Amino acid sequence: MAIEIRATGRAIPSKRLSNDDLAKTLDTNDEWIISHTGIKARHIADEATACSDLALEAARHALAMAITQEGAQEKTLEDAALSVDLIILGTATPDYHGCPSTACIVQDKLAARNAFAMDITAGCTGFIYGIETAAALLAHAPSRKRALVIGSEILSRFTDWHDRTSCVLFGDGAGAVLLEKTSDAPQRRGLVGSILTADGSGAEHLIIRQGGSRHAFRAGDAVRVPPIIEMNGHAVYTFAVKAVTETIEKLLAETKFTIDEVRWIIPHQANRRILAAAGKRMGIPEERFFLNLEEYANTSAASIPIALDELNRGGKLQKGDVIMTVGFGAGLTSGGNLLVW
Ligand code: UT7
Repeated sequence: MAIEIRATGRAIPSKRLSNDDLAKTLDTNDEWIISHTGIKARHIADEATACSDLALEAARHALAMAITQEGAQEKTLEDAALSVDLIILGTATPDYHGCPSTACIVQDKLAARNAFAMDITAGCTGFIYGIETAAALLAHAPSRKRALVIGSEILSRFTDWHDRTSCVLFGDGAGAVLLEKTSDAPQRRGLVGSILTADGSGAEHLIIRQGGSRHAFRAGDAVRVPPIIEMNGHAVYTFAVKAVTETIEKLLAETKFTIDEVRWIIPHQANRRILAAAGKRMGIPEERFFLNLEEYANTSAASIPIALDELNRGGKLQKGDVIMTVGFGAGLTSGGNLLVW
């Protein structure tokens, strides 16, 4: 048995905000942002778009890819949606706080009537957690065959646009993959292993404080601080370099691959310097990391599936390629998946 990525999709809002655009209203500049992060632009959703809308678009693109593939049993988007057994959506910026899950809204809009659906809250590691969770759920029941795993974020709506230390980092977007269980797959195909970690002692370092049960809004309250991302950049940076290094080492040890066998490392797209520092520590050339943060900035749980879709549609993935995801984020969480394409 193998759990393989059958198809990918992404949704990127058309509105592009460059560093120069930001510098018109904020005390920052293109040179600082590029040299400290590698980011040149980010894409921002319009007011009418919510997390589920981007997720839906990305999921539809993945299903549209699946129905055009050789040997596809489902020939229409409707049939492909009905073939999905579960939907897992990683996000820190859901349509609604607490309930319902954004995954349920996507399930309804997609008319994936045979799928159960749930969100995963693991910050920027949400997609990595989602892949491992979906794979386990597929493996557990013989009747389950297909899962949609989605990362979707509207970070721009929870960004403090006056805080130059954080607002320059984030963007909006969504990515999706269709996972499929195949019983007759050759050995070591698809998802080979995952590493997932959590360290809640770092919860305060990356937090949306307002609006939950700890700091609930009550009728009549003046909203002094809206729900916005608060970040301790230095603490997250230090954690991230260590997390990337340790995840790669553990994932290789667990799956018994060597770094030379890995074609692409697809990291969470937070900051080029974090990846350069981790790569340097481990002697991994920078070209082995696939980066697109220049254009999209940090889209949290969406960044890895967006990058995967770019690689896939760009013809940069061949059957048999060994690829590795690696990420870190709020929680604090970190992790990675190793897959044979
Ligand atoms: O998904 C996980 C999400 N979070 C992350 O990945 C964040 C990880 N952390 C980082 O990437 C980095 O810590 C930052 C990019 C956030 C900050 O980079 P840094 O090199 O640690 O800068 P700094 O905070 O030490 O600030 C250096 C200087 C300060 O000025 P002074 O005090 O030296 O005069 C800041 O005020 O740069 C200033 N600064 C800026 N200047 C222009 C901070 N942000 C900006 C800005 N434009 N946007």
